Amino acid sequence: MARILFKGGRLIDPASGVDTTSDVLVAKGKVVEVGTGLSSVEAETIDITGAVICPGFVDLHAHLREPGREDEETVASGSAAAARGGFTALGAMPNTDPVCDNAAVADKVSAAARRAGLCEVIPAGALTKGLEGRYITPVGEMVMCSAGVRMFTDDGKGVQDSRILRRAMEYIKGFDAICAEHCDDAALSEGGQMHEGYYSDLLGLKGIPAAAEDIALARDLVLARLTGVRFHALHVSTRGSVELIRQAKAQGVRVTAEVTPHHLILTDAQLQSFDPVNKVHPPLRAASDVEACRIGLADGTLDAIATDHAPHSPEEKEYEFELAPPGMIGLETALALMITEIVEGGVLGLTELVRRMSTLPAGILRLNGQGGPVTEGTAANLTVFDPAAEWVVDPNSFASKSRNTPFKGRKVKGKILHTVFGGDLVVRSGAIAAEYEAAVSAATAMAGGPR
Ligand code: DOR
Repeated sequence: MARILFKGGRLIDPASGVDTTSDVLVAKGKVVEVGTGLSSVEAETIDITGAVICPGFVDLHAHLREPGREDEETVASGSAAAARGGFTALGAMPNTDPVCDNAAVADKVSAAARRAGLCEVIPAGALTKGLEGRYITPVGEMVMCSAGVRMFTDDGKGVQDSRILRRAMEYIKGFDAICAEHCDDAALSEGGQMHEGYYSDLLGLKGIPAAAEDIALARDLVLARLTGVRFHALHVSTRGSVELIRQAKAQGVRVTAEVTPHHLILTDAQLQSFDPVNKVHPPLRAASDVEACRIGLADGTLDAIATDHAPHSPEEKEYEFELAPPGMIGLETALALMITEIVEGGVLGLTELVRRMSTLPAGILRLNGQGGPVTEGTAANLTVFDPAAEWVVDPNSFASKSRNTPFKGRKVKGKILHTVFGGDLVVRSGAIAAEYEAAVSAATAMAGGPR
């Protein structure tokens, strides 16, 4: 196992309240020394003057498509995309084929991630069998299996039946796991293509009203209070949702929430191109919603930034708008977009950004060894990035198997230099380390074709 000395970086470690120039020595999978003027003859020394070193990012919400759609992403290619984005852990959503609604599928995903060895993958379990909203899944079996499932959700859909959701919450609470919801009242959103408002009228596309999210979330918060479950609101996108979460938190409901980079940056005006790359659920909202999400992120109502990385094939994203599937990828652009828009836009400082992308989501999932602290004896899961480096988003350079990003061609600031997972340098100078590249290609080919 590697012995690496990072010299001269700015250590941002929200968990221990540190933001200072410091060297970090990594050996045998652990951080062994933190301080100034460190030296080690056996270590590979990497000068990171001008760069930030921080705990690896943790994404609460990514779709890795394996099993079932390995042409779009695999656990290995998604892990590579995550590592290149500075992530050392992620939650994989259960809307695969077959659905991750039992321990066998969860263990398979987790084993594939261990084989790839690029980041920690914690599968989320479905709340209901087959995501059909009717029968609750074997939650206990999934919590207890070696994958260690700790979040349950039917993401992609909301659970419509309040009685089933209530029972699922009670069951999940018994295991102290998280109930996470894609808040959507299907009767209101059915057939909707984009946010309902000025632009849906203008473009003649059927709208999804903000009320579809607000109503579902309001019900979920009532049930979360009733059951006492730890509740997590996925990809919050409306002004109403931000207000509901703010109130619920003030009233002591056990609720956490995430927001995606795209809901913090893009508005429904984007849909004027009629390009399905901008189609996503929940949809890109009005400017007032984006502003409310930014305020909610700044004041802590929205806890974490999560990507909702949702790979789709080029063929499917070129269907006519109504038939194209919703979703956009995000693992390899998240940090840069957040520095460019959220830090430079004055919403969060850099230390707070690291907290929202690493320490807080690691805490929500109760992950050991992720999110810091970066102190002697802790697991070495680290990210090194240059906050000032400028680059242009080029999907063809991604490790992900998919290319569906609306940020193609955008000039951004902030570049991942190195990612350390389990003490090993899995990303070196922005690229997957050579010793992992062959394994990723092999695993990807095995799981359904070359990248
Ligand atoms: O846009 C989305 N795509 N939203 C979801 O909730 C699911 C995701 C997917 O799986 O493609």
